[in-house]
Amino acid sequence: MEENDVHTTPTSGAGLVVVANRLPVSLESTSDGTRHWRHSPGGLVNALEPFLRAQRGAWVGWPGAAGQDVPPPEDEDLLLHPVALTTDEVAGFYEGFSNGTLWPLYHDVVMPPEYHRGWWEAYVRVNRKFAQATAEVSSPGATVWIQDYQLQLVPAMLRKLRPDLRIGFFLHIPFPPIELFMQLPWRTEIVEGLLGADLIGFHRPGGAQNFQWLAGRLAGLESIRTVNETGGTPGEIRVGDRAVKTGAFPISIDSGELDRLARRDDIRRRAEQIRADLGHPKRIILGVDRLDYTKGIDVRLRALHEMLTQGSIDPREVAMVQIATPSRERVEHYIRMREDIERTVGRINGEFGRVGAPVVHYLHTSVGREELAAFYSAADVMFVTPLRDGMNLVCKEYVACRHDLSGALVLSEFAGAAAELTSAFLVNPHHLDEVKTTLHRALNVPADEGRRRMAALRKQVLTHDVDHWARSFLTALGVEPALTHISNRPPSAEHTTSDSDEPALRTDWALT
Ligand code: ADP
Ligand code: G6P
Repeated sequence: MEENDVHTTPTSGAGLVVVANRLPVSLESTSDGTRHWRHSPGGLVNALEPFLRAQRGAWVGWPGAAGQDVPPPEDEDLLLHPVALTTDEVAGFYEGFSNGTLWPLYHDVVMPPEYHRGWWEAYVRVNRKFAQATAEVSSPGATVWIQDYQLQLVPAMLRKLRPDLRIGFFLHIPFPPIELFMQLPWRTEIVEGLLGADLIGFHRPGGAQNFQWLAGRLAGLESIRTVNETGGTPGEIRVGDRAVKTGAFPISIDSGELDRLARRDDIRRRAEQIRADLGHPKRIILGVDRLDYTKGIDVRLRALHEMLTQGSIDPREVAMVQIATPSRERVEHYIRMREDIERTVGRINGEFGRVGAPVVHYLHTSVGREELAAFYSAADVMFVTPLRDGMNLVCKEYVACRHDLSGALVLSEFAGAAAELTSAFLVNPHHLDEVKTTLHRALNVPADEGRRRMAALRKQVLTHDVDHWARSFLTALGVEPALTHISNRPPSAEHTTSDSDEPALRTDWALT
């Protein structure tokens, strides 16, 4: 046992603790030197925050700026526990090992991962910091739910400090194929770190299977059962006298909330305004992403450019909007990708735009939930083309906003969501000609077929929301979450004008 591992169990603390690299709010500095808190980017925060808020749990995470030890804002429903990181830790742990090694490795090496001992050492140090902070705020016997690739060593570190805790881990990004994972110089340490959990969750059964195989190969452990395809009965790995369960738990969104938002009159009016601002094009294509090379934004732009060049899209009839949240702006691959994308946007508009009417409207910004719902409502085709994505929540959000069953979803086969959203226009983003023909089909889908597809998509998204996901995970962990459903507000009168083939919103969680 290391010196740092000595710890006393607190007599009080939180009973449900989420541990994620980022807090749900991040501290940002503006060019004039002022600082303010912003909602943190990414699907993890958007998915988990409403659930944890309803449970009144605690959240341990980094406040998003180096060297800052500022108390996070007061929050009535969430206890926020910041873990401060130094400038060196941000460089080595966050930009380095998390986003220069693990992120590209786990996303099918779409960019080459880099392996540096210094980054690894920072990763170990910062994971230990998170484990210690969590040990301090968790009540005796608490449930701790550790999130994502940045914190894969925390389960084992935390178990050493606090053997009384029930520990779950969920990986929000894909777990890679075995032969790619085996590249990692610290593969055994990562597997052993994860095995500190009682339950390890993945989006897809394949991830759980790969992990089970690796636990056998690298840690010499025995797998008891194979993973159930539905994720209902997870497989188990025997670690001494403990059983570590693994399983597939596909994450989702607060679909009821977005459905209600998109039905609001002000959001509908805003959607009409967006169409008008774009010059009332016949078709609007939308992309919404963190500006990340895994998202295939370049694929979309290349497909559009070729279709405009070949005349299969008329620039007077079609507008594309790409809203891209700035992300990981100091990491080299991201800097180059941004330059590449912005050059391509400039080229398309230079060749096909007219005065006051560019073809691509590119916004390098993050927009609020209401504005986002208005964009989803305004778009005829949602264009989601990641080269690899753990789940992709954007496509589910679009579907949740299409209560009138209009709109078409083009979705990459390489997004985890493709396994559930089989009525989308599925596409291989590596095959540019197929991307073009699929986009063309989506732009011209007959109304009946479009409604049929959207009804099937909505059925899936509205009945499998984030509450369902969190409860499945916690139940498999052996915990009964409080019965507060995040979308427990009954639909207002305006909201009940549903289409006949619409699924009913879930009502099976009792109100507390
Ligand atoms: P990731 O977690 O890799 O960023 P997801 O698609 O799973 O990808 O989740 C992205 C989340 O971030 C979604 O909830 C989406 O609404 C939000 N988001 C993405 N881009 C923007 C943007 N430009 N403005 C506001 N929210 C955004
Ligand atoms: C993805 C990851 C999250 C991460 C988010 C935003 O959703 O799975 O763990 O927080 O992207 O990325 P960032 O690097 O800004 O935290």
